[in-house]
Amino acid sequence: PVAERVEDLLGRMTLAEKTGQMLQLNAKDGVRHLVEDLYAGSILHASPEHVREAAAATGRTRLRIPLLVAEDCIHGHSFWVGATIYPTQLGMAATWDPELVERVARATAVEVASTGVHWTFSPVLCITRDLRWGRVSETFGEDPFLIGELASAMVRGYQGEGLSDPTAVLACAKHFAGYSETQGGRDASEADISRRKLRSWFLPPFERVAREGCRTFMLGYQSMDGVPVTVNDWLLNEVLRGEWDYTGTLVTDWDNVGRMVWEQKIYADHTQAAAAAVRAGNDVVMTTPQFFEGAQNAVAQGTLDEAEIDAAVRRVLTLKFELGLFEDPRHPDPARQAAVIGSPAHEALNLETARRSLVLLTNDGTLPLAGGLEAGADGRALAGPGATPRTVAVVGPNADDPQTQLGDWAGSSGQADWLPDGQPRTMIRTVLDGLRAHVPEDWTVTYARGAEILAVGPDPEGAYFPDGQPRPHVVVPAEPSRSLIDEAVAAAEGADHVVAVVGDRIELVGEGRSTATLELVGDQVALLDALAATGTPLVVVVISSKPLVLPPSALGAAAIVHAFNPGMQGGRAVAELLLGLVEPSGRLPVSFARHAGQQPTYYNQIRGQHGSRYADLTQRPAFAFGEGLSYTTVTYTDLEMLTENVQAGDVLRARVTVTNTGSRPVRETVQVYVSDLVTSVTWAEKELKAYRQVDLAPGEAREVPVELPVADCTLVDARGRRVVEPGEFELLVGPSSRDDVLLRGAFTVKG
Ligand code: IFM
Repeated sequence: PVAERVEDLLGRMTLAEKTGQMLQLNAKDGVRHLVEDLYAGSILHASPEHVREAAAATGRTRLRIPLLVAEDCIHGHSFWVGATIYPTQLGMAATWDPELVERVARATAVEVASTGVHWTFSPVLCITRDLRWGRVSETFGEDPFLIGELASAMVRGYQGEGLSDPTAVLACAKHFAGYSETQGGRDASEADISRRKLRSWFLPPFERVAREGCRTFMLGYQSMDGVPVTVNDWLLNEVLRGEWDYTGTLVTDWDNVGRMVWEQKIYADHTQAAAAAVRAGNDVVMTTPQFFEGAQNAVAQGTLDEAEIDAAVRRVLTLKFELGLFEDPRHPDPARQAAVIGSPAHEALNLETARRSLVLLTNDGTLPLAGGLEAGADGRALAGPGATPRTVAVVGPNADDPQTQLGDWAGSSGQADWLPDGQPRTMIRTVLDGLRAHVPEDWTVTYARGAEILAVGPDPEGAYFPDGQPRPHVVVPAEPSRSLIDEAVAAAEGADHVVAVVGDRIELVGEGRSTATLELVGDQVALLDALAATGTPLVVVVISSKPLVLPPSALGAAAIVHAFNPGMQGGRAVAELLLGLVEPSGRLPVSFARHAGQQPTYYNQIRGQHGSRYADLTQRPAFAFGEGLSYTTVTYTDLEMLTENVQAGDVLRARVTVTNTGSRPVRETVQVYVSDLVTSVTWAEKELKAYRQVDLAPGEAREVPVELPVADCTLVDARGRRVVEPGEFELLVGPSSRDDVLLRGAFTVKG
């Protein structure tokens, strides 16, 4: 019946009404006008007042077609005061746990749906390559397999049991495809990327979620080989709609259609751009109101066939009928909001996710503090019997910065002008809050800010956003503050431990906010140098949207914990980890560079000549994909190949013994890589193909089975086909992608 209802409605619509259904407009531009004059089918960045006003306006239209309401809820409901904000996607990726990520997405969908939003622009399937790119924190990192696992889980979580479930929201795989392959890390620059390279790395995660039923895709901003994705017939029609049989709905990114006129300049006017966008298969055109006139003009001029508009509108209406919006428009529901938004269950899930997202990068044994403590009934650590009380100096600009802790798309300061206020301070636990609340009663916590990261001034180049909203320009403080550093040094000198929380800041993160450098900004390096010189054991906690280049004083510190943007409960999770109330289990979803000039640093690079090295720097990363320590030691032994000669249709079997040789429990992520020893085209030295998380008690040994379909051991050949090439392979199993920690077993794929 959905198809029949769609055809019936479509048959009664005028060209203007159909064109309007393809429009998704910014609620801030006045919903009444958008609905009544432009027949907008969808709005985004809408407050409940906007939704109510839009619903009333819809009621005054001839066909009363309900609106689709969209929002960027990518790690929680981004712009809802009080909503649960989880670690960013990159932080979630450090858990390597699809089941957990699915639960986060489900809980997010429940909150989001209660606010009248039907569609979230998440997950991001871009592959992090150049760390200077501003949107690294929105990704699941650098590995296509891990991205596919986590993105697929997120889509399941959002879409739930099916669209008729009132708590389901539409997922959106973005940004299709290759958007992260920037030049110099600069956001939305042209991507120099071949079709073969797309098929090798960038498309597989998208193909997976397309085949698994992700209902919508968003197209990237960039062009490739001179063609903006918005009008890339090969990508959209041949690959997505053709090879993958994708029947879902495509939405452009922000003013992609207009930008082809005013920025990329490949069309002279909106009529040409609209015709090209529809012909390429776009269904929803985001924030280009000129599309309304443009598409109708194109039909009138005969450069666009109305049937092509019908095809797009059919897909939009199908979503609306499947969501049941004609019967129940799913308006904001205050009663449900009160029950679900920021609920204790979601808070607990958030804390669990934050704990699992933290990555212990180095540790000389200083952590856990005081050898590790036990939690009392209230969650506060208990002092051991006869233990001497300690003083912890908490310093650094990110020790108590709620906004940076939440990360991008969290009502952040840079976007505060888009929607209501930031999160109320009381709901966020910073590291300072966490330590104050969780050290034993008789310990002392002191605090000194220690350094500023940035001062913010006006952008000398003027407005950035097309609607004229000014973009803040970010500058490093001109005058380093010796007094802030001195204060921190005094705190460190009077303490048993110093915890320095450094990183980036929200103004350095996000769309259009790529950075030229990766170093700690402002006075932070001077601060760390001064703290290291005090001799008080220094623990460095990094809260940053992406891997930064850490100075020698941090690399040589007693310990480093990388927290990414750990969300509302992140500060509590960090405190618990430092005190040994929880075990570190996060693993890096992305490699860390030693120098900003070392880009890209990802582990699965193509084999080159001369070792692809620099003369003045190793190409080894500072910390490799998959790395992360725990408070115990784990050994890998006895990798046994159970099948050594296999064919493309077989399952490769092996096993490995993993032993917890220390005295604390661990959740170990056993990583399985494959290396194809001789390939018809140059290919990656190794690629992650599987992993398994195992819980090991102190002293426990476990035989971990490895089962891998040989069909997964593919490469993309010179003709662009994904094939298994017969020959010699190696299976590599271990705790990270680093060669020196992997066990190797040989296998042969027969022709
Ligand atoms: O969803 C986002 C996209 O990721 C970047 N441009 C704006 C869109 C809508 O807010």
